[in-house]
Amino acid sequence: MQIEFEQPEVTPYQLIGGDAAIRKLVNRFYELMDELPEAYTARKIHPADLTESGNKFFDFLSGWLGGPQRFVEKYGHPMLRRRHMPYAIGTEERDQWLLCMKQALEETVADVQLREDLYEKFAQIGESMRNRGENIHSCCH
Ligand code: HEM
Repeated sequence: MQIEFEQPEVTPYQLIGGDAAIRKLVNRFYELMDELPEAYTARKIHPADLTESGNKFFDFLSGWLGGPQRFVEKYGHPMLRRRHMPYAIGTEERDQWLLCMKQALEETVADVQLREDLYEKFAQIGESMRNRGENIHSCCH
């Protein structure tokens, strides 16, 4: 007998508005990181040209939100913590990254509940990206 699991009817990918909405969020996020003086410490550890960063983040978010698994198809398992290891991320970098994300979400995602849920997730993952300072998360990659 084949067991059928119910698929959720609407994915966050659909809820946010698919590719176009994710592109808007990503573009605004990196624009803010580039422009806000308060985000300078986080900006400094990124490449001078943020085009590829934006493309990779778009590919990641697409799959993470339940849409096409572009990042995994191109680069393999995300292993986010491991991929962030070459960059010094402490509380300051984390907070600045989250500041840009909070504002980008507010400006580009109309659904308040979705925006808040996404921010909460980003904050959790952001905390686990920290690889400098106190109480570093170290149980997994
Ligand atoms: C805590 C604050 C964070 C900082 C300071 C940070 C910084 C960086 C830096 C410097 C890079 C490498 C350059 C680049 O490709 O742009 C990078 C890559 C990336 N980040 Fe973050 N990041 C943070 C949090 C996050 C979070 C929360 C996510 C996902 C939800 C994320 C997803 C990615 C992805 C998918 C890449 C590309 C990985 C690769 O293929 O190399 N980052 N990040």
